[in-house]
Amino acid sequence: MSKKKILVTGGLGYIGSHTVVELMEAGYEVHIVDDLSNAEENVLDRIEQIVGSRPMFTELDLKNEQAVEALIAEGSFDAVVHFAASKSVGESAENPLLYYHNNLLGMVSLIAGMKKHGVSNIVFSSSCTVYGQPDVLPVTEQTPIKPAESPYGNTKKVGEDILRDSARAYEGIQAIALRYFNPIGAHSSSLIGERPKGVPNNLMPYLMQVATGEREVLSVFGDDYDTPDGTAVRDYIHVVDLAKAHVIAVERQLNGTQKESYEFFNLGSGSGYSVLEIIQSFEKVNGVKVNYKIADRRAGDIEKIYADNSYAKSELGWEAQLSLDDMMSSAWQWQQKLEQN
Ligand code: WQD
Repeated sequence: MSKKKILVTGGLGYIGSHTVVELMEAGYEVHIVDDLSNAEENVLDRIEQIVGSRPMFTELDLKNEQAVEALIAEGSFDAVVHFAASKSVGESAENPLLYYHNNLLGMVSLIAGMKKHGVSNIVFSSSCTVYGQPDVLPVTEQTPIKPAESPYGNTKKVGEDILRDSARAYEGIQAIALRYFNPIGAHSSSLIGERPKGVPNNLMPYLMQVATGEREVLSVFGDDYDTPDGTAVRDYIHVVDLAKAHVIAVERQLNGTQKESYEFFNLGSGSGYSVLEIIQSFEKVNGVKVNYKIADRRAGDIEKIYADNSYAKSELGWEAQLSLDDMMSSAWQWQQKLEQN
């Protein structure tokens, strides 16, 4: 039997590349499109080293509607996993149109191409950012959506709306949105991982650049939150666990077990950790000190959030397998390998 073919947009990025590996290891044929705006082409070599075969690759900006349509017309894809998007919260506040342009136009041209050429299935990279600061924790899928704190967050919310409306209106289109909590860690091979360009915005890459000595000190944004140690709490999830959830979501679509034309799931570990707990865990697991100082709260940050993952467990049969220790050690191994290159 020929392999099922999956189009992965943004497949050279952090979460995308890990998902490509899991899809290929599960027996799918993968075709990546990526505009290389925040990824390196040599990730293809890394994926090939891990999996033993090379995914197809087309350098393409999804906003180029004609090129997207041509690709889908020829691809005979069974499903699309859509990661390609800009993801810096701060940059989105400075340049909202860039974010609406990149994240929403790309998606519209993708769905239009799917509709035209009879591709039924799409899995979308959404975010727990759609919940804002929830009134009740943990967050279930019934927790109300809040107005987004940033244009980036809003593109995830509107992205979900576009999918839901399309799945409702167009016979044959079904969509699953996966709401990620905070993905960290790297593949056990240390061949792929997160590689931010410029000064990192997110906690783990910044922390690790302090641990290597590349940056002097990690600012802990706020220690006066209503949390056990005063620092903000998040639900950190190993990127490989997250990647595996995408394979399950694609399988759900392909084997016809998706129940509604549009579904959405929280993907978190179900546990909350504070910034100080992350620093302590990193130091303990890796035997490295992290120089940090307490700084002011970061604008737009929420106090605490973590997932109720029982719906993903019961419906998808998915739950996080890898521990916080695994996240800390794999991230550090990847970072050290990066330093050597
Ligand atoms: C985690 C915690 C910070 C950096 C953002 C997006 C979200 C998602 C992931 C992405 C917070 C604290 C951070 C630092 C710190 N989307 N921190 N010092 O803010 O939960 O989520 O990224 O693509 O939509 O909003 O993640 O890693 O930035 O922060 O103290 O130098 O670490 O305040 O409490 P966040 P993060």
